[in-house]
Amino acid sequence: MNDPKKQPSKALARAENFIDEFNLQIPILLAPMPNATPPELAAAISNKGGMGACGALFLGAKEIRSWVKDMRSQSNGVFQLNTWIPDPEPKRDHKAERSVCEFLEKWGPAIPVGAAEIPLIGFQEQCDAFLEAGPSVVSSIMGLYPTDFIKALKDRNIKWFAKVTTVSEAISAEKAGADVIVAQGMEAGGHKGAFNASDADMNMIGLFSLVPAICDAVNVPVVASGGVADPRGIAAALTLGASAVEIGTGFLRCPEAAISKPWADAIARTKPEDTIVTRAFSGRLGRSIRTKYAVASVSDEAPIPAPYPIQRNLTKAMRDNASKENNVDGMQAWAGQSSSLAQSIPAGELVDRLWKGAVELIN
Ligand SMILES: Cc1cc2nc3c(=O)[nH]c(=O)nc-3n(C[C@H](O)[C@H](O)[C@H](O)COP(=O)(O)O)c2cc1C
Repeated sequence: MNDPKKQPSKALARAENFIDEFNLQIPILLAPMPNATPPELAAAISNKGGMGACGALFLGAKEIRSWVKDMRSQSNGVFQLNTWIPDPEPKRDHKAERSVCEFLEKWGPAIPVGAAEIPLIGFQEQCDAFLEAGPSVVSSIMGLYPTDFIKALKDRNIKWFAKVTTVSEAISAEKAGADVIVAQGMEAGGHKGAFNASDADMNMIGLFSLVPAICDAVNVPVVASGGVADPRGIAAALTLGASAVEIGTGFLRCPEAAISKPWADAIARTKPEDTIVTRAFSGRLGRSIRTKYAVASVSDEAPIPAPYPIQRNLTKAMRDNASKENNVDGMQAWAGQSSSLAQSIPAGELVDRLWKGAVELIN
């Protein structure tokens, strides 16, 4: 039984400071996941005192405005808006792209001429829309925001959460003014947020090593992300020095996430060894379910993927076709190593269970 006079453990005291600082009631953040974090999911989590999120990578200013409006109509809670820091212009190699297309056409339809050229949504447009929306938190992945944008965030008292994958990235993010470091372990589903795309597979660091090392290296709060999906993971992350956790795959089976059924069902069956990291969906390294395409993409016969975003553009026809056919084998079925812990229950109920269970373990 809990002794009411007992002091909270160091882990809980750290989490309490964090939730006070960011107006939360529990130290659980929804991870920003483009096309998988609709306002319904973010609101369900923020209405329980966690932090909602919008993965805005594919959203222009109008769509960001509409996401925020929808979110605010469903919750007064806290949320973060997130996008990717752009990579340098990719070097084009038309011969290599042709081999990628030939390989992809074994998995899906013919790739239309000009497919490689689909433009990305403007980064500046997204940054401007974030400032206009005025959320409590803006977050980054794949690098650091430009200094003028960091200043604009600070002028408006919007906090910057910087996702990192190494200690040196964490130190450079803190130096640049990040208010919180989100330490992404290699267990994480989806893209790895390495600042330098070509380093990503050389720095595969598990959360158990990454969190304490970053906590020792920086003075700002650290959020743990990657493979956290149940009370044991939350208790462990807080004990390792994190002030909160950010969960992605663990929320993907919630009905509010509204991802495709084949992907959600496959997450439930995915053991830690059933995921794989590959550049073959986008050109950036990401952790996916070990689908037939993902496995073939790392075989000796597979061509080297084109850089981001060329590879993403080239795989679009295959991914769209697989979604239409409900075939998980050609889909971009991102998932972290703790996939099988994800629960198919409403997100609000899940958040309650996760936090109650973690507090019992820590106490
Ligand atoms: C489908 C999916 C999409 C993601 N997209 C983004 C993104 O756009 N921006 C970002 O900061 N993180 C993104 N991530 C990474 C998450 O923020 C987080 O680090 C990761 O989900 C944590 O690992 P977990 O999935 O094991 O919980 C994505 C993760 C997934 C599963």
